Amino acid sequence: MIKVSHLSKIYTNADVKTVALDDVSFEITQGEFVSIMGPSGSGKSTLMHILGALDVPTSGDYLLDGQRIADLDDDQLADIRNKKIGFVFQAYNLLPRTTALKNIMVPMMYGGVDKKERIKRAEKYLKMVGLENRIYHTPNQLSGGQQQRVAIARALTMNPNVILADEPTGNIASSQAAEIMRILDELNQQGHTIVIITHEQEVAAYTKRVVHLRDGRIIDNHINGKRRRY
Ligand SMILES: Nc1ncnc2c1ncn2[C@@H]1O[C@H](COP(=O)(O)OP(=O)(O)OP(=O)(O)O)[C@@H](O)[C@H]1O
Ligand SMILES: [Mg+2]
Repeated sequence: MIKVSHLSKIYTNADVKTVALDDVSFEITQGEFVSIMGPSGSGKSTLMHILGALDVPTSGDYLLDGQRIADLDDDQLADIRNKKIGFVFQAYNLLPRTTALKNIMVPMMYGGVDKKERIKRAEKYLKMVGLENRIYHTPNQLSGGQQQRVAIARALTMNPNVILADEPTGNIASSQAAEIMRILDELNQQGHTIVIITHEQEVAAYTKRVVHLRDGRIIDNHINGKRRRY
C-alpha cells in the first residue's frame, strides 16, 4: 500500500544543503503497525511529511495504493490527504476556541459529508476515544492526552487507509501515553494501517515492525520480536 524507492530529500537554505533523507526504500502493506524510530534530526518528520503527501521528495518515488504521488496536482493531493490519510501530530493541531465536536468535523466538511452524518460520525469517534463527556470542551479545557484523543478521533472520521502519527505521545504524561497507544493498537486490530514516528522505545514496543533511521538512512528494519506493554 505504501512503497517508497530511493527516496531522497535535500533542503537548501541560503546555499546550505541538508540531506534529510538519503536513498530510503521500504514497503508497508495494508494492516501493518509500524514505528519509525531514530534520533533527533534523523529525518523522521521529513519522511512522514512525504508519506502524508504534505511534501515531495527531491528524488525517488512514492506510490500510495499504486498511485505515484508526484504525478498528482494540488487538488488531487488535497483529496488524497482528506480521504486516504489520517494525521496525528505531536502538537495535536486542533483549532483553538473550537469545541471537540467541531474540530472533529473539519475533515468531513472538506470531504463533503452531510451535516447529519458529520454529527453521527463525530459522536461515534468521540465515544470510541472515551470523550463522550467532553463534546463541547475547547482544546484549552482538555488535558494533553484528551486533546490527542480528539485528534485521533478527527483522523478517523474519513475512514482513512492509513493513519500517520508523528510523536503522538511526545507531549503527554506516560499514563495518558499508554491510553493513546492502547487506542492505536485497537485501531490496528480493526484493520487500520498505522505508521507511528517516535523516539521512545516504550512506544515502538507496541508496534509489529520497527524501521530505524539515522542520518536520513535506514539502518535497521525488523519485526518486533516481543510486543511489550508499559
Ligand atoms: N524546512 C527545512 N529546511 C532545512 N532543513 C530542514 C528543514 N526541515 C528539516 N530540516 C533538517 O532535516 C533534518 C531532518 O529533520 P526532521 O525534522 O525530519 O528530523 P526528525 O527525525 O523528525 O527529528 P526530531 O526527532 O527532532 O523531530 C534535520 O537535520 C533538520 O535540521
Ligand atoms: Mg520530528
